[in-house]
Parts: sequence; C-alpha cells; structure tokens
Amino acid sequence: MKVIGINGSPRKDGNTAILIQTVFQELNRQGIETELIQLSGQNIRGCTACYACVEKKDKQCIITDDPFNACLAQMIAADGILLGSPVYSAGVTSQMKAFIDRASMVLAANRGLLRYKAGAAVVAARRGGAISAFDTLNHFLHSKEMFLVGSTYWNMVYGRNIGEVQKDEEGIGNMKNLGQNMAWLLQKLHSQ
Ligand SMILES: Cc1cc2nc3c(=O)[nH]c(=O)nc-3n(C[C@H](O)[C@H](O)[C@H](O)COP(=O)(O)O)c2cc1C
Repeated sequence: MKVIGINGSPRKDGNTAILIQTVFQELNRQGIETELIQLSGQNIRGCTACYACVEKKDKQCIITDDPFNACLAQMIAADGILLGSPVYSAGVTSQMKAFIDRASMVLAANRGLLRYKAGAAVVAARRGGAISAFDTLNHFLHSKEMFLVGSTYWNMVYGRNIGEVQKDEEGIGNMKNLGQNMAWLLQKLHSQ
C-alpha cells in the first residue's frame, strides 16, 4: 500500500513537509509506503477553463508543460492521499489551489478515479485562517469519493519559521494520531 503526500508550500522542506513526514512516519511503522511530492518550484499553472479534459476524458490535463499530469497519475495510483498546505491569506497557497483546481476538473471529467481511497489534509499556520485552508483541502477529497481520516482535533499545527511546528506538542501529537488512523483505515480497506 502506498500514500502520496502533496505539499503545496512554495517553501520546500518547511513546516508543511514536517507535518506530512510526521504522518508518514506512523504509516511507515505499519509497513505502508509513502512518497512526498513538493509543489515548490514546479510552476504548476492554474486551470484555464478550456474544458478539454471534459471533452477528451483521457484522465489528463491538456497543459503538458508542467508536472501536473505526472502528479495526478501518482495520486490515481496511490491507495491514500495526504494533502498539505501552509495557510496563506487565510486559505491554501496559490500553488495548492492551482493543483486542486486542475485535479478537480480532470477528475470530474473522469469519475471514480479516487473513489474509496483514504484521504486526509494537514495545514501549517502562524496564527489565523487554518480552518478555511483545511476546509478547502477536505472539500477536494470529499468530492472525489474518498474516505476522510480524522484525528483528535482538526489537522492544523502552528509555527512560522521552519521547524517551529515541532514545538506545537498538541498539533504534532494530532499528526501522529492521524497517521495511525490512516494506517488503520487502509488496512481495513485492503483486508479481505
Ligand atoms: C504570503 C504568506 C501568507 C501567509 N498568510 C498566513 C495567514 O493568513 N495565516 C497564518 O496563520 N499564517 C500565514 N502565513 C504563515 C505561514 O502559514 C507559516 O509560516 C507556515 O508555517 C509556513 O509553512 P511552510 O514552511 O510549509 O511554508 C503566511 C506566510 C506567507 C509567506
């Protein structure tokens, strides 16, 4: 089994990456493979509303000069998806928004590609807006027929500079629990 993590931060290996890796550690402990995709520096463009994906239904976006299609293919192949974003202006980053806008449209045109996968969202914030960023990520996962994994609080952890999230003891504990819950769900989904 494999879980793909998508980090929407333009800051590679920053706080959001730390949160995703914290969840990953618990998944790895249960023998679940993980892979982190960082959108930083990938220049993934936004949806151009051309609706070519709706016409073609070929499971991809017509824009091919960025790595979006490769990321989407990895999501489709995975058993679980972990979306992570820092909070920017009380929402997700523009990098993450561009990614989920395009993924939403391609996946709406090709229904069921993420159906029955386990999904979770995590956000890193300095102070405010975490719940709306968290909601945006969950709206995507929910609308693609995924099973959302919960934890003991909403998945937001506080810190500004890289590494500061480690000091948010409750938040990090919540990430660990999220990883354990995701592993539990994946094992149930794949046990026959
Ligand atoms: C352009 C910009 C906008 C931000 N907006 C917010 C915000 O609205 N609320 C907040 O709590 N933190 C905000 N932050 C702080 C980041 O969410 C915080 O530093 C986070 O830990 C960064 O995670 P990263 O290291 O994964 O990029 C903002 C940071 C930047 C650079």
